Amino acid sequence: MTMKPLLLLLLCAEVLAISSVCLASTAYPTVPGTAATDCSPAGGGGDDTLVPTRREVYGDGRIFDISHRYTTNMPAFLSNDGIGQFLWLPHSMKNGSLANNSEMKIPTHTGTHVDAPGHVFDHYFDAGFDVDTLDLEVLNGLALLVDVPRDQNITAEVMKFLNIPKGVRRVLFRTLNTDRRLMFKKEFDSSYVGFMRDGAKWLVENTDIKLVGIDYLSVAAFDDLIPSHLEFLERREVILVEALKLDGIQPGLYNVHCLPLRLLGAEGSPIRCILMT
Ligand SMILES: *[C@@H]1O[C@H](CO)[C@@H](O)[C@H](O)[C@H]1NC(C)=O
Ligand SMILES: *[C@@H]1O[C@H](CO)[C@@H](O)[C@H](O)[C@H]1NC(C)=O
Ligand SMILES: *[C@@H]1O[C@H](CO)[C@@H](O)[C@H](O)[C@H]1NC(C)=O
Repeated sequence: MTMKPLLLLLLCAEVLAISSVCLASTAYPTVPGTAATDCSPAGGGGDDTLVPTRREVYGDGRIFDISHRYTTNMPAFLSNDGIGQFLWLPHSMKNGSLANNSEMKIPTHTGTHVDAPGHVFDHYFDAGFDVDTLDLEVLNGLALLVDVPRDQNITAEVMKFLNIPKGVRRVLFRTLNTDRRLMFKKEFDSSYVGFMRDGAKWLVENTDIKLVGIDYLSVAAFDDLIPSHLEFLERREVILVEALKLDGIQPGLYNVHCLPLRLLGAEGSPIRCILMT
């Protein structure tokens, strides 16, 4: 079938990649359970061992992957068991198939993901404001990574204190959630830090921020779960990216690139985000 040349191409690309990927930065902190593959020093041969390298940083430290890896143990909202098995291999080469073809099933708000206005407004959902309608210009461009004070949720007071200049359109808020490594814990933790309603309202009314990123499953603190989402999404101008992986990156200005899947009719989507210096 037509699969064969494609498969060959993919395999070749993989082999090429393996011989050139042993650049994982040792300076970058190890993420539990996802330790970078050990690479033998350059010139040591050894690229005939088929061991892929997994990385958080690319391009000599210029590109940071700020999406979480999908694993069975990653947390799911309100669950103690993580997302569980989400990937199968219904067609496998070991069982005589021409190629391996896996299949996945996950809620659209799993792992690093984006919320569309239809998430909390039923009339927006019905009108079709799904993830396919999100503005890629908002999701891609200059972004500020800021550290939020660790002793409270994001209130109007905190927003004032952060003093984010007018004109800044994309902000990734790093919180206590990152220090507590909540995204690496299987059990959902409702004590995560997020926006209180007044913080969301203040941001919408007093800043130019249109992309709000945060480091746990919801931008809204658990106590203000729906009210904060309503404040953010009512005008259909702000895009919310949740469960970003912001570990070990200096605060400051970056280029962010976030791309949701074009899931027609879906109010959420997994999203791959990177930061570039
Ligand atoms: C195909 O799937 C099998 C498991 O059935 C796995 O061991 C093998 O590595 C896969 N092959 C490729 C080319 O991915
Ligand atoms: C291959 O098929 C057998 C029998 O249907 C099944 O038990 C086994 O799990 C399959 N193995 C893989 C790798 O898909
Ligand atoms: C943030 O709010 C949650 C409830 O939504 C609470 O459990 C948590 O302690 C608060 N965090 C801080 C740092 O105040």
